[in-house]
Amino acid sequence: MALINIRDMLYHAYNNGYAVGAFDLVSLEFLEGIMAAAERARSPVILSLAESHFDYFDFELIMPAVEAAARRAHVPVAIHLDHGASLDSAVQGINLGCNGIMVDASHHALSDNMRMTRTVVNMAHACGVPVEGELGYVPGVEGEDAERHPGGIAYTSVAEARDYVEHTGVDFLAVSIGTVHGRMKGEPKLDHQRLEQINEALGIPLVIHGGTGLSNDQFRRLIANGVTKINYYTALADIAGARMRDNTKSMEKGGHTGLMKGVRDVISAEVERCMRLWGSFDRAEELLAQCKSWAPVEHMIIYNLAGMTRQETETMMAEGRRVLSAIPGVREVVTGHAVKEDAKYRYTWLVRFCHPAVIDSYREHPAHVAFADKLFRPVAAERISIDYQTIESVATQENAMTGLLKES
Ligand code: 13P
Repeated sequence: MALINIRDMLYHAYNNGYAVGAFDLVSLEFLEGIMAAAERARSPVILSLAESHFDYFDFELIMPAVEAAARRAHVPVAIHLDHGASLDSAVQGINLGCNGIMVDASHHALSDNMRMTRTVVNMAHACGVPVEGELGYVPGVEGEDAERHPGGIAYTSVAEARDYVEHTGVDFLAVSIGTVHGRMKGEPKLDHQRLEQINEALGIPLVIHGGTGLSNDQFRRLIANGVTKINYYTALADIAGARMRDNTKSMEKGGHTGLMKGVRDVISAEVERCMRLWGSFDRAEELLAQCKSWAPVEHMIIYNLAGMTRQETETMMAEGRRVLSAIPGVREVVTGHAVKEDAKYRYTWLVRFCHPAVIDSYREHPAHVAFADKLFRPVAAERISIDYQTIESVATQENAMTGLLKES
């Protein structure tokens, strides 16, 4: 698995003067097209899932496919929640497998933006997950005409940005310097001087939303001034739409597969063009050599119960699955019974954490403390526990490297 920490990815880009594309995906055609481009360009890539798109796909259903794509990749991948609207969405994103989170409270007053962002940062950092915040307001809606959403742009101020980063602890900052989400008529005017000042003041990776419609020269100037993550969606959606419209011309009868023919390939070609333009192509190998792969942890308990009926045991386990799986950083809770009646230990818990940081934050979380102290420890005095990493997660970096070497 070439899933890596997005912090490692974006600092590598920051220190080497290139930007990684964060491509919002809304279907498997997007996922496959983006990953094929990353493999061809040997580029790091961010698979981005925007909360504003959750009407178009089932987040919970698509995430296993996104993770599977990252797992089999030979290039470094991060999975990012884009425009997370609340603490609950950030927790859901992390628990479903995102290893980077954007909290978007940019439409709120500065003090509310800071308070909400700080809360998300505290939770996400306790799970080992980096956070992108946004200051200033980038108007528009991804995939739509910018004029349909004329909401006023609010430029990021340098002084506020310094304050915001210091008080919230965000790892990366999305800035508003003139870009707009969605389809534009003509090129937007960008305030490059403002960006330069923000970059000098902060010295952290910067993010641009509304990548569609910028010129090659604008991209180059953004990257020269600290932009390391470029969010890009509308252009991909438009290219996919154009291909589908073309397909209908040659189709006598409409069928889904006929309509989707070649859609993955046109998305892929545009993603590859971006990777070449933004300088992330051919960076996979050096990045993988410098960073650790993202390594989840499993928390296993084997135990015996005293004085519990079968029904009481089932009830306790069901309650544990319910409360523990809602704790930030917990990917899954599985309970089990030994197959053999005479096993030395009769029961198991397997709790999958997204990152080693969750070992501590889980132990101290009030929901865990309450469950463990009231319902579990009093009846399970006889128990053994271990936090471990699977061989797969430790070996992934090696595999990713081997894949790259084989291809070269
Ligand atoms: P565009 O749709 O304008 O490329 O913007 C994408 C974006 O910023 C997603 O967060």
